[in-house]
Amino acid sequence: MSNDCKKAYITTPIYYVNDVPHIGHAYTTIIADTLARYSRMIGLETLFLTGTDEHGQKIQEAAQKRGKKPQEYADEISAKFRDLWDYFDISYDKFIRTTDEKHKLGVQKAFEVMYEKGDIYKDNYEGFYCVSCETFFTKTQLIDNEFCPDCGKPTSIVKEESYFFRLSKYEDALLAWYEDKEKCILPKAKKNEVINFVKQGLHDLSITRTSFDWGVKLPESINDPKHVMYVWLDALMNYITALGYGTDEKDMDFWPATVHLVGKDILRFHAVYWPAFLMSLGLELPKHIGAHGWWTRNGEKMSKSKGNVVNPREVADAYGLENFRYFMLREVPFGQDGDFSQKALIDRINSDLSNDLGNLLNRIIGMSGKYNDFVIDSSDVLRFHEKEIKEAEAIIETLPAYLYDLQLNRYLEELWKILTLANQSIAVYEPWVKIKEGKKEEAMALVALVANLLAKTALMLSPVMPKTCETIADALGFTINHEHYRRLIEEKALLHTFMIKKVPPLFPKIEKELLKSEPKTATPASKETTKNRLDKEGLITIDQFFQTKLKIGTILEAEAVAKSDRLLKLKVDLGEPEPRQIIAGIRPYYTPEALVDTQVCVVANLKPAKIMGHLSEGMLLAAKDDEGLALIRPEKRKKSGTPVG
Ligand code: MSP
Repeated sequence: MSNDCKKAYITTPIYYVNDVPHIGHAYTTIIADTLARYSRMIGLETLFLTGTDEHGQKIQEAAQKRGKKPQEYADEISAKFRDLWDYFDISYDKFIRTTDEKHKLGVQKAFEVMYEKGDIYKDNYEGFYCVSCETFFTKTQLIDNEFCPDCGKPTSIVKEESYFFRLSKYEDALLAWYEDKEKCILPKAKKNEVINFVKQGLHDLSITRTSFDWGVKLPESINDPKHVMYVWLDALMNYITALGYGTDEKDMDFWPATVHLVGKDILRFHAVYWPAFLMSLGLELPKHIGAHGWWTRNGEKMSKSKGNVVNPREVADAYGLENFRYFMLREVPFGQDGDFSQKALIDRINSDLSNDLGNLLNRIIGMSGKYNDFVIDSSDVLRFHEKEIKEAEAIIETLPAYLYDLQLNRYLEELWKILTLANQSIAVYEPWVKIKEGKKEEAMALVALVANLLAKTALMLSPVMPKTCETIADALGFTINHEHYRRLIEEKALLHTFMIKKVPPLFPKIEKELLKSEPKTATPASKETTKNRLDKEGLITIDQFFQTKLKIGTILEAEAVAKSDRLLKLKVDLGEPEPRQIIAGIRPYYTPEALVDTQVCVVANLKPAKIMGHLSEGMLLAAKDDEGLALIRPEKRKKSGTPVG
């Protein structure tokens, strides 16, 4: 993101209506909401779009299962998303549904333009389809010739007439775009994955289906009524049809999008197909596509069958909506997976929010009440505390860059340094001693310093915790808006003299977990589920595979274990504070010297065990045949601790 133009267009994915909203949906939407609030605060004309993706085989089947018409079913679930976002105070400007008439007309127009350009042709499709991911696969991409490589569910064979989009034609142009625009895909690691994918070669993309009818029909000019559009073509177009593409074109001046926020699982659609469609349409490409990681539960992917899906509404009700927002953004670096746990959430509330932030306001109220009848005057702040003010300003100057790079955790981490500075200033300058020494002026300058640091923090934190920051601002005699952002942040002004308002503690400490831990729903024994079948065949699901945490490790030290001609004792860096000790039976194949500073692949979540009296905290992966043993190593050097999978 950047503020190099006066408009900002921020989007979430449009959510499938085959299921009710969960924590993953809430995460993307909260990030987008934060960016939208920030961009409004800094004065950009902002359009924040979210909505629902309502066509396709998956939705048609989900509706059928419930004995409902697809439209009726879509109406019901789409309303649930809208309700949740309203309940969550999400500041979206537009909610698009792919069943909106205007959207359908826009998609048909786009199809026509691409067709006329010669980018669409008719042929026959033969391959595999995963309904759950709404994705086509070739046989070689499948797991064991049958299962979806993305979600592990069985695929079905598709053999039908189809229109194709000439994706292959755009391969070079896409690679040039990635090269030219350094931050077109964030974070960088995800961008590299996309580049590698495209470099392997792009096949033309099947973009219509004939075997079901719940989708947008082809434009009348093409006159082929048995086809409906592939749901991803239909869905991606939402980003421009919401602006009136192909109809009134009313908001097209918001294009190109500032940022499309997506989960890592749908990055390929956004970073490969979507820009290719846009090039074909002759439209500019989005400025940024930001791919976030997944929320897991105790390290496992969430799924209804496991009964471990976190309901965002329940969490927000129990712990407070804004605390939850803060936690989600602070806890996990953008792009990485994060594990949801009540303990981590409680720690953030009690430590960051209650101790560092809430307590600071209470201390300011307490001190100003005791020393000066709650009146705070900033006129002496620069005389006594110019250094601290300059320090805070220097921190604030670094913040936008984190936000534009979508590093919201870093943004918050840095912002918290202002709170640390404020809390430390109280400890260092001891205003209570100053009062005893009759230096009231100095004591009140300190109180005013801290109030100003809190005011600036509240402004910068407001996109993440809007209501809380309004309360803080109200106590400090100002309001959160563009005008105050300009004055207090851009112009570096201080607060006018004001009378602080007393407010009850903002973040009462949480003593115990407030949500009952979710029951483990056993897989019904009577049903022949995919899981049972996989078990019987000795196959595992992708979830089961990911229970094993594999990481890249760097060997720091290696030595022979005394009295063993087989074992080596290794110190391996897995990117954790301390290296792990691993005992490996590889001495016949490797000398200790040859191992130091090389990289290996480590099973990182094995229970520690003692081998010949030595603790071993992991296992190295290796392949052994008649000719001996070879360690499995990354093809290129990777950061220690990089997950493998
Ligand atoms: N309909 C498509 C998007 C079309 S956009 C043109 C879709 N919908 S979805 O409802 O299945 O998923 C929407 C988003 O939720 C994706 O970005 C996905 O990554 C995100 N999440 C789903 N589960 C998630 C977690 N457990 N954690 C974080 N986000 C995850 O895909």
